[in-house]
Amino acid sequence: MANLRWYKIEEEIPVGDFIRQVVVAGKKLCLLRTEGKIYLIQNTCPHAGGILSGGWCSSGSIICPIHRYAYNLENGRGAEGQGDYIDVYPLRLEDDGLYAGFHQSLFSRFFRK
Ligand code: FES
Repeated sequence: MANLRWYKIEEEIPVGDFIRQVVVAGKKLCLLRTEGKIYLIQNTCPHAGGILSGGWCSSGSIICPIHRYAYNLENGRGAEGQGDYIDVYPLRLEDDGLYAGFHQSLFSRFFRK
């Protein structure tokens, strides 16, 4: 993918389903596995700041623990009527581990290279 900068996720990836906060390149994000697939998403709910890594998954969505808004894990879209979305970051599995891709502009904003 063009204009992506890849960062290794240093934390150990648990076996089976999980949801946890991870730090990638200094940014707190939410890493999870559900239905056999791993996703990396923003960790702060866009509704009112709930911590998504404290939530749970249902039918391909992450559910925020505060007001139970749902966000699709493939495209980040909020459920019908919410009108909001979350960032979903691309992942790449290499021989030495899992890498997260950030758009260069996003990288610059978050990490001030
Ligand atoms: S803070 Fe997440 S649904 Fe309200």
